[in-house]
Amino acid sequence: MTKLSIRDLDLTNKRVFIRVDFNVPLEKGAVAEDTRIRETIPTLKFAINRGARLVLASHLGRPKGKPDPKYTLKPVAARLAELLGQPVAFAADCVGPEAESKSRALKDGDVLLLQNVRYHPEEEANDENFSRQLAALCDQLYVCDAFGSAHRAHASVVGITKFVKQAAAGLLMERELAYLGKAISNPERPFIAVLGGAKVSDKIEVVQNLMKLADGMLIGGAMAYTFLKSQGQPVGKSLVEDDKLDLAKSLLEQARAKNFNLRLPVDHVVAESPSSTDTKITDIAQTPPDLMGLDIGPKTVELFSRDLASAKLIVWNGPLGMFERPAFSAGTLGIAKAVAEATEAGATSIVGGGDSVAAVEEAGVAAKISHISTGGGASLEFLAGRKLPGVEALTDKS
Ligand code: 3PG
Repeated sequence: MTKLSIRDLDLTNKRVFIRVDFNVPLEKGAVAEDTRIRETIPTLKFAINRGARLVLASHLGRPKGKPDPKYTLKPVAARLAELLGQPVAFAADCVGPEAESKSRALKDGDVLLLQNVRYHPEEEANDENFSRQLAALCDQLYVCDAFGSAHRAHASVVGITKFVKQAAAGLLMERELAYLGKAISNPERPFIAVLGGAKVSDKIEVVQNLMKLADGMLIGGAMAYTFLKSQGQPVGKSLVEDDKLDLAKSLLEQARAKNFNLRLPVDHVVAESPSSTDTKITDIAQTPPDLMGLDIGPKTVELFSRDLASAKLIVWNGPLGMFERPAFSAGTLGIAKAVAEATEAGATSIVGGGDSVAAVEEAGVAAKISHISTGGGASLEFLAGRKLPGVEALTDKS
């Protein structure tokens, strides 16, 4: 890591601005899923134990630059207080007099959470004046632990770093970069990537970059049908991005030309629609014209699992079917188990993206995965080989 770490900072008696990614689901005024909050606790405790005064900022949802009670961080303050076992103060606006006086009132080890930074349009505009106002809430020390937001060049992620003396990575950020960095710079081999999800268009650059880095790629989910159709295979009513057929075809040709092991499903679970429970399993070649594919089939699970069993590094992003519906979850759950077994046999496994993370949890194998990434979009951009602005903006070690 060439960037400063929170471990390099002198935190005692200082107000430190910590950007976290508390973009978590809320239900009936409470936090419904708190993984992203729990994952920041080591960083927050590290700062608390060193006598820092913590000013925390995050976004939640996309409130379009104005206050919206649907996206308040207030319930997050309550959950965070439970997790830390200490009170967490809350400022109803992330800038202005209340935030300023509450940040000044902090004592060593105290924690203040600011209201959603996206209540202001200046956040996403990376506005300089707004960045300066955020920076005024701390004593020139900034820590970014928001890996999930590091692909956003916004004021609390990038702009603020210009107005502090030191901008460092938090412990969660460091761990994310260490695991994902290994995949793109020094992978153990064989390195197998598993990609799923609805759209090829979301993952083109990831496919292209991982074709250069990995030893094999297993593609499932709706995105597989664009590839299958480009090969002239019958796909029935399955979801296809027709405007991406040429691209899919050329990616398959590139894979063939370099002898790259790119596998597509050989069978699948088909039904009339995603809401149907009347399902059957067919080979891809036998897909009925009036049905759509909604999950990979058992032969595909077996084929993919065989590749995974010999892998030393696995990166998985995106479900292999419409996993949220029980009728179409077996394929994704089967792959979750295969990834866990490969990990037990010595592979390093990295799982990212909300649905694949939910799948390893539902399969009961989350604890066996080497690293579960808190970043969906951020981990995809990283795997696509792009620089993350929130990381680039941190202070260089030298
Ligand atoms: C995420 O959930 O991927 C991050 O919190 C970023 O959210 P965004 O896509 O709304 O910027």
